[in-house]
Amino acid sequence: MQKFMMLILIMFFLSISSVNSDPPAVPALYVFGDSLFDNGNNNLLPTLAKADFSPYGMNFDGGATGRFTNGKTIPDLIAEFLGLPFSPPYLSIRASPKLTGLNFASGSCGILPETGNFLGKCLNFAEQIDSFNNTSKQELPKHYKTSSEVSDYLSKSIFVITIGSNDYINNYLEPGLYDTSKHYDPQSFARLLVGNLSLQFQRLYKLGARKIIMFEIGPIGCIPSVTRQFNHSGQCVEDVNQLAVIFNNELATMHKDLTSPLKASEVILGQGHMLGYDAQRASHHA
Ligand SMILES: *[C@@H]1O[C@H](CO)[C@@H](O)[C@H](O)[C@H]1NC(C)=O
Ligand SMILES: *[C@@H]1O[C@H](CO)[C@@H](O)[C@H](O)[C@H]1NC(C)=O
Ligand SMILES: *[C@@H]1O[C@H](CO)[C@@H](O)[C@H](O)[C@H]1NC(C)=O
Ligand SMILES: *[C@@H]1O[C@H](CO)[C@@H](O)[C@H](O)[C@H]1NC(C)=O
Repeated sequence: MQKFMMLILIMFFLSISSVNSDPPAVPALYVFGDSLFDNGNNNLLPTLAKADFSPYGMNFDGGATGRFTNGKTIPDLIAEFLGLPFSPPYLSIRASPKLTGLNFASGSCGILPETGNFLGKCLNFAEQIDSFNNTSKQELPKHYKTSSEVSDYLSKSIFVITIGSNDYINNYLEPGLYDTSKHYDPQSFARLLVGNLSLQFQRLYKLGARKIIMFEIGPIGCIPSVTRQFNHSGQCVEDVNQLAVIFNNELATMHKDLTSPLKASEVILGQGHMLGYDAQRASHHA
């Protein structure tokens, strides 16, 4: 089912490109997000949120790589579907980036800069885009003759994003560490997050992204660290799941309101339940 849904998302973009251009090719997969998508960036950062040891990777060919899961991540499956190699972690490869894509995702981070900082350093969403900005300005031009070739390459590339759940798990739901829940009710917090997210989407657009898949956040009230914290004897915490619903509704509203130049056809929403929460099941707070 998960793979099937993903196929539909990707087919959607392939059909767009086959309308617009001759070879309906996807040259690259660029990945942004948190521990659900991180595949090794946090290995190289001073943080407690790491997954470069067993049992992570026990069902993955390379063993423990920094992926916060026993097996493949969603971006791995998308890359396989597109016939691309796995997008390597940006921090491990920044000197010689691959033209088939890069992964900027960083476990424990979120949209707000302070999210997750009690665990150490991570790359928040804005910083991930700062890094992509550097890649697009400093590295990609070395491989293409003209800037329109770079634009063409980027416009055909797919950008997958999952971000926002840690702004709850590692911020809003940690009132001892953050005062966001004192200052914002759930609705206004979701608006703050999606407002910032929308700014970052505009930046990605400015940098040349034209095919963006943004995943909704999943049922964060069912993550063990949350069920433990709220002591519901392993039951999902409905109030916390409700926070995710509010965020996702806000995201859908933003998506509906996207207007030129960032058109809704260029950003599509993937449903959060597709992501599952196995990645975070294994780790405490990543
Ligand atoms: C981007 O490149 C500039 C110039 O080399 C550098 O100072 C800056 O730290 C880089 N930013 C990121 C996020 O890598
Ligand atoms: C983005 O987040 C910061 C807090 O980190 C906040 O001060 C700012 O108002 C937010 N911007 C928008 C547009 O929501
Ligand atoms: C990318 O970086 C350049 C140079 O640091 C900056 O002027 C520009 O505003 C950045 N672009 C985006 C979309 O953030
Ligand atoms: C949950 O709370 C009850 C009542 O306060 C307590 O007896 C129990 O030990 C707690 N369980 C856990 C796993 O913390």
